[in-house]
Amino acid sequence: MARKVLITSALPYANGPLHLGHLAGAYLPADIYTRFKRLQKKEEVIHICGTDEHGAAITIRAEREGIPPKSLVDRYHKIIRKDFEDFGIAFDHFSRTSRPIHHETSQKFFLNLYEKGDIIPRTVTQLYCPRDQLFLPDRYVEGTCPYCGYDQARGDQCEQCGRWLEPFQLKAPRCVICGTRPEPRETTHYYFRLSAYAEPLRKWLQEKTHWRASVRNTALGWIQEGLKDRPITRDLSWGVPVPLPEARGKVLYVWFDAPIGYVSATREWGMEHHGDPDLWKTWWLDKETRLVHFIGKDNIVFHAIVWPAMLMAHGDYVLPSDIPANQFLVFRGGEKFSTSRGTAIWLRDALEQFPADFWRYALAANLPETKDAEFDLEELRRRVNHELADTLGNFVQRSLGFLHRFREGRIPPPAEWGGEEVALLRRLEELGGKIEAALEEFRFRDALHGVMEVAREGNRYLDRKEPWRTRKTEPGETDRTLYTAVQVLRAISVWMHPFLPHTTAEIWDWLGMDPHKLPPYGEASIPDPSLGGRTLKPIRVLYPKVEAPVDIATGSEKASRETTVMEEETMEHKPQITIEDFARLEIRIGTIQEASRHPNADRLLVLKVDIGGEIRQLVAGIARQYAPEELVGKQVPVLVNLKPARLRGVESQGMILAATDPEGGAVLLHPDRVLPPGSEVR
Ligand code: 2FM
Ligand code: ZN
Repeated sequence: MARKVLITSALPYANGPLHLGHLAGAYLPADIYTRFKRLQKKEEVIHICGTDEHGAAITIRAEREGIPPKSLVDRYHKIIRKDFEDFGIAFDHFSRTSRPIHHETSQKFFLNLYEKGDIIPRTVTQLYCPRDQLFLPDRYVEGTCPYCGYDQARGDQCEQCGRWLEPFQLKAPRCVICGTRPEPRETTHYYFRLSAYAEPLRKWLQEKTHWRASVRNTALGWIQEGLKDRPITRDLSWGVPVPLPEARGKVLYVWFDAPIGYVSATREWGMEHHGDPDLWKTWWLDKETRLVHFIGKDNIVFHAIVWPAMLMAHGDYVLPSDIPANQFLVFRGGEKFSTSRGTAIWLRDALEQFPADFWRYALAANLPETKDAEFDLEELRRRVNHELADTLGNFVQRSLGFLHRFREGRIPPPAEWGGEEVALLRRLEELGGKIEAALEEFRFRDALHGVMEVAREGNRYLDRKEPWRTRKTEPGETDRTLYTAVQVLRAISVWMHPFLPHTTAEIWDWLGMDPHKLPPYGEASIPDPSLGGRTLKPIRVLYPKVEAPVDIATGSEKASRETTVMEEETMEHKPQITIEDFARLEIRIGTIQEASRHPNADRLLVLKVDIGGEIRQLVAGIARQYAPEELVGKQVPVLVNLKPARLRGVESQGMILAATDPEGGAVLLHPDRVLPPGSEVR
């Protein structure tokens, strides 16, 4: 049986749209590698991903928007999936960590380690916010990193130096909800015995001499500093519940369950695409499988240390064989692409300006493989105009344009090679070998450079052979030239495919190449005589120059607008429910008695609503659409049996039902005539 390559890309948090920095960090290289591996036809390949839907990253954002976490992740799962699709990032399966299969897989994993004694309960001191009256898990605390002094380090990790932190390690901690300095209090949490794996990890990492030095050295450096046991549970109501009766109200820490998402998504893939609930085992339980994790550098600690330690503790699964983590893509001027700071170019905005292949090309040429890489719109323009258009596009347009003009689109039959052709084909073979080797070693920039070199050779060949001149005097020579040029183009179209999947597929179509019968990647330089005699389809300019200086808005405001548009385009219905399911909701008409602004959130109002002999306090995300004073006396439907929740520190004992306008704003619903408060809605 062929060896297997199980490729994963970091599961993005479903708490916002993705930007170019995300793409360059993990997803584009993962897609290039997967497409390459498939074309190589040597191993079985799957590419697995999905959205990471738990953790404080999600709950904090949901609280800020005044919506339940589930609504937030539903929204962004769809958006992220569609953006990937349109960028040509092709997964075999794209799952979600909120699905039952993932909860079950993670709980089993937890119990496995718990029963082995690798997860143990401990009473610990944790930061507690006296104002919001809750324990503050990881990202709910911010402060100064004890290692590098970065003053906006989060309680789970420092974005600047990448270290895994605990909230109490931060200097000058503050509650992200209200800004108060939290105080220490005692609680119980479950700890993963990471310290026990320091030596096995060190030994394992030392053998990984083929890894990127930045990844291996960073990981070894952290082990050198000492590995501590870490709590892997949190006091949150959103997440995978800890599967122990004594741990009610606790969920798994998101970084414990997220990487298990790679396993659960593979399980789901086997079931959904092959109807085989055990297929995943042939990937995860086979020690010959090569497990390759594509991630950005901020995920190194979790993939090169914590996750392998979890896998070692579990014992049944294969360990990662490669973790080709990228550094950051930075905007020229030094600012990292970042969602929170508004220095991002969102994928949706990018696609509105230029086709996916343009971005893929410019990003692939600038991938931050060994150090942070700079990028800006001028760089995109330069890459597109001087490389895609002038070199690759020029060769495509000339070789096929000449055929259309001089031979009515008919590819000449194979001819004897002359000295020029023999030399050219030898050069192609040499470059092909280099390109394949570079891709094997995750040197994507080098590989891309190699393919462009082939296009340059093609252009030089046409310049030397001057088919526009020989067509009158030496038609046989012209035929040979055009036939050879088409063979070069065929090789380019295969070698370039992992980088530019959309436009290379167009070339295949023009040449009548069957995508299912392409030559193995490494053999694309061997000419295919069956091209001779075929008639080309009409062609178009694949890589038009970008003339105007480009300017794309960056930042988060624009994104929220795009988000609304996207949602409309991809409206999907939820799974059917029965009337009994519906009957579990208790919806009643309430009369608003009081309304005031929320003390800590601009978007929220706090309402006192009479639901029939009982006054409920409700927090509603309607402050942008309604002033408190216009609401008193109005009647609205209220979901009264919703579990109470604290929204930015204020308890909400139910939920007002409202419609959403195209901008995403709330529109209140009122009964057709005034009703006694408490009237049931069915
Ligand atoms: O950094 C992030 O966006 C995380 N959601 C990545 C998770 S990767 C994996 F472990 F799931
Ligand atoms: Zn730091």
